[in-house]
Amino acid sequence: MSGLSTEWAASTPVTTAPFPRHLVSADRLTRAHVETLFEQAEALRHAPRAETAQRWRGAVMGSLFYEPSTRTRMSFEAAALRLGLHVVGAENAREHSSAKKGERLSDTLRVVSSYVDLLVVRHHEDDALEAAAACSRVPVVSAGTGSGEHPTQALLDVYTLQREFGHVDGLRVSLFGDLRYGRTVHSLVRLLTKFRGVEVCMLAPAGLELPETLVREVRAAGITLWAADSLTEALADADVVYQTRVQAERLPADQRPTAGPVRIGPAELAQLPAHARILHPLPRVDELDPAIDTDPRAAYFRQVENGLFLRMAVLDRMLTETFGEGGMV
Ligand code: NCD
Repeated sequence: MSGLSTEWAASTPVTTAPFPRHLVSADRLTRAHVETLFEQAEALRHAPRAETAQRWRGAVMGSLFYEPSTRTRMSFEAAALRLGLHVVGAENAREHSSAKKGERLSDTLRVVSSYVDLLVVRHHEDDALEAAAACSRVPVVSAGTGSGEHPTQALLDVYTLQREFGHVDGLRVSLFGDLRYGRTVHSLVRLLTKFRGVEVCMLAPAGLELPETLVREVRAAGITLWAADSLTEALADADVVYQTRVQAERLPADQRPTAGPVRIGPAELAQLPAHARILHPLPRVDELDPAIDTDPRAAYFRQVENGLFLRMAVLDRMLTETFGEGGMV
C-alpha cells in the first residue's frame, strides 16, 4: 500500500485519546479526533486518484442498510471504492438479509464481521447498534440509527462549516425543522460541544422540539442553546442556518404537527446576513425552496460533496486503527 504525501503525514495532529473502536455516537469523538479527520479528508481530496485507489487495496467493507438511503450509502460505498476497498452488503437489509427470518442484529453483525474488515450499518432502532456493535469482530460505523444519531453526517456538517468559515469556534447556528426525530441534529449538537463558544438557536414546529434530555446534556457540555422567539431572530444573527425536513415516517399519525417547518425561500434569505451559510442534510421536501439553490449562501450541495471525502477519512482512520499506519500486509 502506498502512503499519502509526507506533507499530510507531517501535519497530522497527535491524538491523545485512542480513536473509538466503533463510531456510533458523535459524543465519543474528541476535538483532536475531529480535526484529524478533517485533515485526512482534505488530504484525500487533493491526493491523486491513482494513489488513493491503492491505499486499502484488498480490504473489504460490509454495508448493511435496514432503512432507505441515497447519500449516506452511496457516499460510503464510493468512498470505499476510491480507497481501493471491495464492498459487499445489503441495501435493503430489512427485506434482503436474515432479519427477515428473525435474526437479531447482534447475530448478523457477529456473522458478517467474519467476512469483512469494517462494517457500515444503518438501523431503524435508536439504540440497537450500540449493543450489537460489541458482537462485531471488526469496527462498526453508524450510518444513522432511528431518530437517535447520525455521527458521520454531523462530521461532514462540521467539516463543511470548517471549510466555509475557516473555523467552527464561536459560530452561531440556527437549527430549523424537526429537532425531535431528526437524528442529524442530535449528533450535530453533540459534536458542536467539542468547539468553543458555539451558540445554538432553535426554531422547531410545536411538538418537534429538541428532546429535553439532549438540551440538558449539551448545555452541561458548555453550549449556549435557546429557543428562538421569532423567525427574524433565528435568521438575522445567524452564521449558519441548519434546516431539516419533518421525519414523517417516524411520526405517529396523531402526532403530525399542524404547522410544518418554516420554508426557507427568497424572502427568508433577504433576512439572512451576507456571510451566513445554509446547510441541510438532505433529502429536502418543501422546507428549502429550490429558488435559493444558486445563492452562494446555499451550501448544501457543497456539503454533499464534502461527505464523500469525510467518509473516506473515517474509513481510512478505522482501517489504520486495525492494520496500522503501514496499511494492509
Ligand atoms: C438524513 C438521515 O438519514 O437522517 N439523511 C442523510 O443521511 N443525509 C436526514 C433525513 O433523512 O432527513
